[in-house]
Amino acid sequence: MFDFRPVGDCPKPDAYRQLHDAAEALTSDEPDGVANMANIAALLWDFLPDTNWTGFYRMVGGELVLGPFIGRPACIRIPLGKGVCGTAAAEGETQLVEDVHAFPGHIACDSVTNSELVVPVLRDGDVVAVIDLDSPLKARFDEDDRQGIERLAEIISNRI
Ligand code: SME
Repeated sequence: MFDFRPVGDCPKPDAYRQLHDAAEALTSDEPDGVANMANIAALLWDFLPDTNWTGFYRMVGGELVLGPFIGRPACIRIPLGKGVCGTAAAEGETQLVEDVHAFPGHIACDSVTNSELVVPVLRDGDVVAVIDLDSPLKARFDEDDRQGIERLAEIISNRI
């Protein structure tokens, strides 16, 4: 029914434009936040090579709680300020980590993870969730990824 796979080998900004169009098409008419997060997690898994975990943590009662994702089972609750996700949520700032083993307090959910990108989703200035991407490669994520995922976070901000 849906065919939102990336089209061919193209520069990262072009791939992100395809991802944004797909995210827009999948979520714009759907009010259910869980359904939308599930589809975005699946899109990220399909569009981003060399990832071993793509998904969401949601802000619930002042802590992060696991949301829809693709990957191995992960820690369920993360206090604000802890690990890469908790730091992104506490500061409201993207965390681009080339080597998670050098990040103080990194929470190792899957031992194959070596690099990580976590982008907060903001609504009316508040962090409502984070998008978490893990890779087995060191320094998998760069500025193109940061900009692409930050734009994705804007697109879905009112739909999750
Ligand atoms: N590594 C993360 C925890 C979440 S898992 O990677 C899915 C962190 O340090 O916040």
